[in-house]
Amino acid sequence: MNKHTTAPTIPRSKLYESARHDSAPKHVAGIAEYIDDMVEPEGTMHAYLALSKCPHGEIVSIDFEAARTAPGVIGILTADDIPGENDVSPSHKHDEPIFAIGKVEFWGQPIFAVVAETREAARRAAHLVKVEYKPLPFLTNIRDAQAAGGKLVTEPLTLLRGDLAEGFAKSSRRVKGSMEVGGQDHFYLEGQIALAVPGEDEDVTVHSSTQHPSEVQLMVAAVLAVPLHSVTVNVRRMGGGFGGKETQGNLFAAVAAVAAKKWNRACKIRPDRDDDMVATGKRHDFVVDYDVGYDDDGKILAVDAVYAARAGFSSDLSGPVTDRALFHCDNTYWYPAVRARSEPLYTNTVSNTAFRGFGGPQGIVAAERWIEDIAYDLGRDPLEIRKANFYGTDSNNITPYHQPVTDNVIHRIVDELEVSADYQARRQAVLAYNAGSPILKKGIALTPVKFGISFTATWYNQAGALVHVYKDGSIHLSHGGTEMGQGLYVKIAAVVADCFGVGLERVKIMATTTGKVPNTSATAASSGTDLNGMAAFDACKQIKARLTTHAAKIYQCAEEAVIWVPGGVDAGAEFVAFDALVASAYLNRVQLSAAGFYTTPKIHWDRATGRGHPFYYFAYGASVSEVTIDTLTGEYQVDRVDILHDVGRSLNPAIDIGQVEGGFIQGMGWLTTEELVWDAKGEQRTHAPSTYKIPLASDVPPIFNIKLAEWSINTEPTIGRSKAVGEPPFVLAMSVLEALAMAVASVADYKIAPRLDAPATPERVLMGCERLKKQARA
Ligand code: MTE
Ligand code: HPA
Ligand code: MOS
Repeated sequence: MNKHTTAPTIPRSKLYESARHDSAPKHVAGIAEYIDDMVEPEGTMHAYLALSKCPHGEIVSIDFEAARTAPGVIGILTADDIPGENDVSPSHKHDEPIFAIGKVEFWGQPIFAVVAETREAARRAAHLVKVEYKPLPFLTNIRDAQAAGGKLVTEPLTLLRGDLAEGFAKSSRRVKGSMEVGGQDHFYLEGQIALAVPGEDEDVTVHSSTQHPSEVQLMVAAVLAVPLHSVTVNVRRMGGGFGGKETQGNLFAAVAAVAAKKWNRACKIRPDRDDDMVATGKRHDFVVDYDVGYDDDGKILAVDAVYAARAGFSSDLSGPVTDRALFHCDNTYWYPAVRARSEPLYTNTVSNTAFRGFGGPQGIVAAERWIEDIAYDLGRDPLEIRKANFYGTDSNNITPYHQPVTDNVIHRIVDELEVSADYQARRQAVLAYNAGSPILKKGIALTPVKFGISFTATWYNQAGALVHVYKDGSIHLSHGGTEMGQGLYVKIAAVVADCFGVGLERVKIMATTTGKVPNTSATAASSGTDLNGMAAFDACKQIKARLTTHAAKIYQCAEEAVIWVPGGVDAGAEFVAFDALVASAYLNRVQLSAAGFYTTPKIHWDRATGRGHPFYYFAYGASVSEVTIDTLTGEYQVDRVDILHDVGRSLNPAIDIGQVEGGFIQGMGWLTTEELVWDAKGEQRTHAPSTYKIPLASDVPPIFNIKLAEWSINTEPTIGRSKAVGEPPFVLAMSVLEALAMAVASVADYKIAPRLDAPATPERVLMGCERLKKQARA
């Protein structure tokens, strides 16, 4: 064999380097393919959903005649057309019908779909159908739901540790309060969409904009009453998911699939933005009622809190979301005694779902609220109270769910940020500015984050990958993770390239499909890289082991003498290029394909007792925000933000910084301008950018300094010792809320706790100023 058929090119390893996002050039050129860009199969039909105009009621009658006879209409789909189950409940509680039967439970609930030759024809016809309702009493918000007895959509959780009575008895001070934390629309740029293409026999292929192809497969199979092997789900990329496509794509995929099989023609479904915002679930809003005992130094001794959430009409993910809120009731703080309880409340609103942070941000924001209450009570800088309550590293480090915190780096993160952001001097400057400025007021805050990494549903912490090396040395990579803009694909491609010692251009990143890697978990809980990266690594290792054995045989050296180096292997005295090695392995009948698998070690969780080790590790970070408010109008701006965030050893610093930037801005939108409103009739009035304000490019702070904690290394053996980055930075936005609260508090000389609820819209800021001025006068 010719050892040097190709000149050995020494590839640059892209691991730990800022390889650009594989879709970036295509995004810029407008050629990244989304489902609505795909060439439609001949005869593709279009479906459009008709939504309820009643928040709770019996369906008395439906008159389909006008729609049936409208131009271009092929037919109407109702629950009667579903061969299997009329349900897409991800909790398997069978509480989420595709099409409402007999009654509707929220304004915007799908009742039927019109299928037509064009999308426009389907959409128009859907509006011609007349539905008559017999209204029933309805509840849209948390307080009303509690007052009506507090019906829950799923079993609540209680976390309990320490002696609460003793903690309160020892507390010289105590604060009770409530905090309202708003919900949030995902506002992905690409809305929900599915295209189903019928195959022979029972087969159907579904292109779905989903974070969870295996669950779409499961739902479509159940709806069609066929085995899982008949359904293939593909997703090249999403134009954003943010949790809104963990379960919410199920219904659209199911409707497209039912129509495709019924008429044996492809069917596409894509709701308008307004319908997408009304018919699909959002972040859960919460009301947290708290009772906290502490001493004269601001050290917390006891916490008793109830986390009530607006779950909507069905369970969806409200159980795990409210669980994660409880798992983050501590944030970075040690509570000697604690009781935290969840209340996932049934309401006549759309069923709320996963959204970046998955309840964690809501839990953390409440913890920061009582820190702030304590600080204002004692007349101290909230940062001092934070530091006084941080988890220790060896002691005072048991979480409310009895898992010890063993990787605590919050002290170093906060100390470094305090210096690099010049926090102390700037706080003094803010106080001085406010003393001399009667109308404009400033605020500054430093807030920490600790975020638990792993799915709390332990069995989800598994992943598979499929790697083929072709005989020309090019590599084909499939794994169970989906790409939604977060950079998962390029990170894992870099893992594979690095493993084989070849350049990134060798690795073809395949679209995610249930046909290549089965039984996958949602790309969620920030664990996409941790799980799929390790599965791909496992597949590569298997192929490498076979190539090593082969090289030892051909070059007559010991296997230990075969060393993988960039570009190929050193086999004893010889260098063999990767291409040449692969080509000779093929001729010698060596298998060049492998399926990899990974399960997260160490984790376990017993929900019944509220004890366990649900998280593999924690990600940390901290931010400083400075804001200016106008006390006459409530308007404000964020002047400067400094962030120090821990991603362990970064696999791709450019992607990770992008995640921190995007997460922070999205969190800022949640806590400031994004407000969801339901009116007295039970209709959601915020259903388009005209009525719902997400941050614009111009809302990005003019000074925005982001640094990764370069010294951090995951203490657990994760892929490359990296840490998950998708969700934790979302919570960094907390410092904006607290800086706004400080500016508000300045109108009463910082003597009254500002208690700004979220979102802190300009109206809330103004009302906060007025309330504090009034209280100060009283
Ligand atoms: N980043 C972009 N650009 N788009 C997204 O939809 N989703 C977030 C986060 N970052 C999201 C994103 C959410 S909710 C999660 S759980 C993670 O990405 C999922 O991807 P990962 O596990 O690969 O980090
Ligand atoms: N995070 C995100 N999605 C999930 C989780 C979680 O902890 N559990 C189930 N789906
Ligand atoms: Mo993310 S909320 O876990 O999809």
